[in-house]
Formats: sequence, structure tokens, C-alpha cells
Amino acid sequence: MSDMTNKRLGDGWEGVLPPFYKKQDIIFLSADCVGPVETSQMHDNLSINWCFGDKDIEVLDSSKGIIVEGSPSVSGPSFSSRLCKRALYSYFQQVALMGGHSYLEELPTYHSVKVEASMYQTVKDLVKQHFLVHQAGPWNSKKLVDCFSA
Ligand SMILES: *[C@@H]1O[C@H](CO)[C@@H](O)[C@H](O)[C@H]1NC(C)=O
Repeated sequence: MSDMTNKRLGDGWEGVLPPFYKKQDIIFLSADCVGPVETSQMHDNLSINWCFGDKDIEVLDSSKGIIVEGSPSVSGPSFSSRLCKRALYSYFQQVALMGGHSYLEELPTYHSVKVEASMYQTVKDLVKQHFLVHQAGPWNSKKLVDCFSA
């Protein structure tokens, strides 16, 4: 899986990408199963996430993207996952405010904020072109999904 993902982007990105951007390889690790051997249907839609630095796991109903009652961690906005776009947008806005970029708050949607990031858009276009040239398939745009506000 790591090889498939990392080789799709290929090498030779040095000097192509603008300052501070670099190709980062993704590393997948597998571990032994830690869940129960038998599960009930009640647990079919449960999903757990944890990242280094998180105090607790977050337990979600993955069919709804909503944190379940009793989840040890509840930190995303309005019971949405801390990993969803809405939560990332909320963290971004907090950082932007701290950095004095209050104009970003006036932009109506997550999508419009992403469009403002011209360097990011340039790099994204380079990656999309690379995928097309190397027959790795087109980039799947999530423009519709991104049209939400805070
Ligand atoms: C799991 O999600 C599916 C699809 O949304 C739903 O039909 C089903 O009822 C859910 N199961 C439970 C136990 O919530």
C-alpha cells in the first residue's frame, strides 16, 4: 500500500515545488487486531481514531460522521469528528485569527478559503497534471463537498 501510494507521485519534485512544499512519503503500519473476536451488529458502524498527541480515542458512528455518546474524546464542532473537514476548517480559522488574518473569516465557505490559498492551488494543479501525464487517473474534485460554511 505504501509503495502504491508513494510511487504514484514519483520522484523529481525537488526544484519543481515552491518553497516549503515537498513530497512526503506516506507510511502505513499494520498491527495485530485489538478488537473483540466476535462483534455484534450494534458495533457495525463504529469507527475509532487516534493520532499521536491525542489524549483519548474518538469513537464515531461512521455511517453519520457523528461522535457517539460516551466517546472518550469530544472535540470537533457540534459532535462532528475532529478529523472531518468542518473540524479542520474550524482549527484553521482559529489559527488564522491568531495570525491576524481576520479577512479569512469573511469568506463564505471552506471552498472559498481554499481558493484564496494560491500557492496551495498551484501545487495542487502540479499534482493533478502529474497524475494525468503518468496515467494515474484524474484527481477527484470535492468542490461540492467543500461548499459549507463554519
Ligand atoms: C449502520 O449504518 C447503516 C447505513 O447507514 C444503517 O442502515 C444501519 O442501521 C446502521 N446500523 C446501526 C446498528 O446503527
